Amino acid sequence: MILIDGKKISLQLQSEIAQEVKDMIAKGNKQPHLAAILVGDDPASQTYVGSKVKACENVGFKSTLVTFEAYVSEQKLLAKIEELNNDDDIDGYIVQLPLPRHISEQKIIEAIKPSKDVDGFHPINVGRLVLNLPTYVSATPFGIVQLLERYNIPTDGKHCVVIGRSHIVGSPMSILMAKNTNLGNCTVTLCHSHTQNLKEHTLNADIIIAAIGKPNFVTADMVKEGAVIIDVGINRVDDVTKKSGFKLVGDVQFDEVSKKAGYITPVPGGVGPMTIASLLKNTLIAAKKEF
Ligand code: GUN
Repeated sequence: MILIDGKKISLQLQSEIAQEVKDMIAKGNKQPHLAAILVGDDPASQTYVGSKVKACENVGFKSTLVTFEAYVSEQKLLAKIEELNNDDDIDGYIVQLPLPRHISEQKIIEAIKPSKDVDGFHPINVGRLVLNLPTYVSATPFGIVQLLERYNIPTDGKHCVVIGRSHIVGSPMSILMAKNTNLGNCTVTLCHSHTQNLKEHTLNADIIIAAIGKPNFVTADMVKEGAVIIDVGINRVDDVTKKSGFKLVGDVQFDEVSKKAGYITPVPGGVGPMTIASLLKNTLIAAKKEF
């Protein structure tokens, strides 16, 4: 079994990005600039956004964090988005999800200028992804593809089972894995809450990508010997031995599944750190105005 070290690869990618930033600035270009909007005080969102902003510093990007109280109006948020859309210094920005219930996520996402949508959530960018046109691939799927690439894991002709059909992970992941590209060409099965006999699908999988947000959902009896296991879950479960009162576990029952897997990502330290590197990569693409 090979443990996929997302932390290591993320740091490698970040040092490559940092080098590119140095080169860009040496050539007289401006410093890439990422902004993040955080609404409310969800602890997980605060942690994620904090990590994103800190990562900007590490690679030499400028960053701007815009925070709003949870009760901010949709109109006020839309006004800020308009401002960021028109701010030439900002190359790309994200609105951290989830948003409070009184705000329409769809409306907010559709207000983001597609060329600055480094999360790749805007319908135009999702459409471009489906059509295999250059676009921002959303951070988690992009991170997973990069892990497969850096570990030289073959995908061509393989059977990939994606569990979960969220707009952020499962759905774009299924599209990427099926694409007619080097890092795709899988036969993809997209499983979700209405899938019958899930185990029949997963037992046939060469690659399993678990993104359902249920702790320890994928068990050893569901996994073929030698399969590649990508665990996207970041679930908080109570743990009285921790100062925080919780620990993070994935969607995969790691201890048992790792005995059968060919490759497996740990939680934490697998897919999570890669999402940050992907966001930085998308911001670099935005700064270079590649499309
Ligand atoms: N919430 C969970 N994942 C993400 C992400 O990748 N981007 C944003 N904006 N919000 C998220």
